Amino acid sequence: MPLPRPTRHRLRALYRTITSHWKLIAFAASLLLLEVCVHVRNYAVTRPAEPLDAPFYAGCQDPVLNNTARASAVLLMLARNSEVDGATASVRSVQEQFNDNFGYPWVFLNDEEWSEEFKEKVGQAVGKEGNVEFKQIPKKMWGYPDWIDQDKAKANMQVMKDKKIQYGGLESYHHMCRFQSGFFFDHPALLPYKYYWRVEPNIRFTCALTYDPFVSMQAHKKRYGYNIALWERGQTVPSLFRKLSDFKSAHYLPTSPLWTAMIDASYMPWPFRRALAWLRNRDGNGDLWNMCHFWSNFEIADLDFFRSDAYRKVFEYLDKDGGFYYERWGDAPVHSLAAAMLLKPEELHHFSDLGYIHDGLQYCTFQSTQEEKKRGFGMPPGISGKGHGKIEGREEVGCRCQCDPDARVVEPVCLNRIGLAMA
Ligand SMILES: *[C@@H]1O[C@H](CO)[C@@H](O)[C@H](O)[C@H]1NC(C)=O
Repeated sequence: MPLPRPTRHRLRALYRTITSHWKLIAFAASLLLLEVCVHVRNYAVTRPAEPLDAPFYAGCQDPVLNNTARASAVLLMLARNSEVDGATASVRSVQEQFNDNFGYPWVFLNDEEWSEEFKEKVGQAVGKEGNVEFKQIPKKMWGYPDWIDQDKAKANMQVMKDKKIQYGGLESYHHMCRFQSGFFFDHPALLPYKYYWRVEPNIRFTCALTYDPFVSMQAHKKRYGYNIALWERGQTVPSLFRKLSDFKSAHYLPTSPLWTAMIDASYMPWPFRRALAWLRNRDGNGDLWNMCHFWSNFEIADLDFFRSDAYRKVFEYLDKDGGFYYERWGDAPVHSLAAAMLLKPEELHHFSDLGYIHDGLQYCTFQSTQEEKKRGFGMPPGISGKGHGKIEGREEVGCRCQCDPDARVVEPVCLNRIGLAMA
C-alpha cells in the first residue's frame, strides 16, 4: 500500500537532511559512542596494586590459636521462641566449630519475653561454662516510628504480599529489618562490646575456625567481615539504591572501588541515560545497582562502624524516608551499601575460609592457587558445581571443611566483582 502523500513528503525531506548532513551526524554519533565507552570504562573494577584482603590464616591452626587475650566481642542472635530448634542447631554448630575453644559470650534478643523452653534448650547448647544473656528489645527499637503513615504502610504490605515478595506482607519482618539496620548495636546488652558475630537460627558452619576472628579483625584494622555475597531481589528495595546514591552525592562522599563494584554502568548514551534514573535500583545518573550485597545473616563486624556518626546519619535518612515499611528494605543491602559507601575497601574482610549454610544456600571454601593466595584472593572466576574436593595445584583455605553436597553453592559472581576491588 503506498504511503499517503504528506508522509512520503516528510520521509523524503528527512532523507535529504540526512544525506546532506551525514558528516555532522556521524560526528555526533561517534562523540556519543566515545562518551559511552569512557563512562563504562570508569566503572570497570581494577585490582589494587597491593592485595588488600588476604585470608587471616590458611588451613588448620594446631594447636588452636586460643591463647591470646580475648577481644571485646559477643555472639548475637535475634530469634523468636518458636525458633528454638533452629536456634539450638545454630548454637551447636558455632560452639563445635569455634566457640568451645574460645568461650565468647552470647546475647539472645527477642521482641517478646523469652520462654523457659528457649532459655533452657539454648542455654544447654552453649554449655554450662558459657556466658549467656537472654534479653528483650525495648519498645522504642521495635515498631513504627511516629512519622510513618501506618495505613499507607499496611496498604503497601498488602501489595507486596499480593506480588509474592518474600516476607513483604509480614509487619514484624519490617520491624526486624529496621532493628537490624539501625538499632541492634545500641541495645544495652551490646554496649559493652566492640565486635560482634551475628548468628541466625538454622545456620551451619561447615569448617572449623581455629583462630580468633575478632582478634584478627582488630589486628588487621578490619571493620566489616562477610562470607557470602549474592543478589538481592530487586522488588524488595526499588528505591533504596537511588536514595543512598543521592545521599552520597549530597554529602560529597568519595566513590570507592567497592561502591563501583556494586554498579553496572549503563550503555545508554549520555542525554538519555539520566532518564533511566526513574527506573528502580538506579542512581541519579541512570546507572544500575547490580544487586550485589553481603548476606548479613553472617556478619563479623566492628560495632563502632555502626555506631559512627556517618552510619547513623545514613540510617536516620533512610528511616525518615520510610522505605523500611513502604518497601521491604532488608538490613543486608543497607549494611552492604553503607559499607561500600563509608568504608575503605581494605577495611572489609571476606571470611573465605569459612563454609557456611543458610536457607539451602552455601558458601564452600574455594581453593586458591599460590599466586591467588599471595594476592590474598582465593576465588577462581566462574567456578561452578559443588566446590569441594581439592582442585589440582590449588592449596586449601579453611580447616576441616565438609561442604554439604545437598545445599546449593552460591556462584561467586558477586564475590568475584567485589573481591576484585580488594584483591
Ligand atoms: C583452647 O583450645 C583447646 C583445644 O585445642 C582446649 O582444650 C582449651 O580448653 C582451649 N582453651 C580455652 C581457654 O578455651
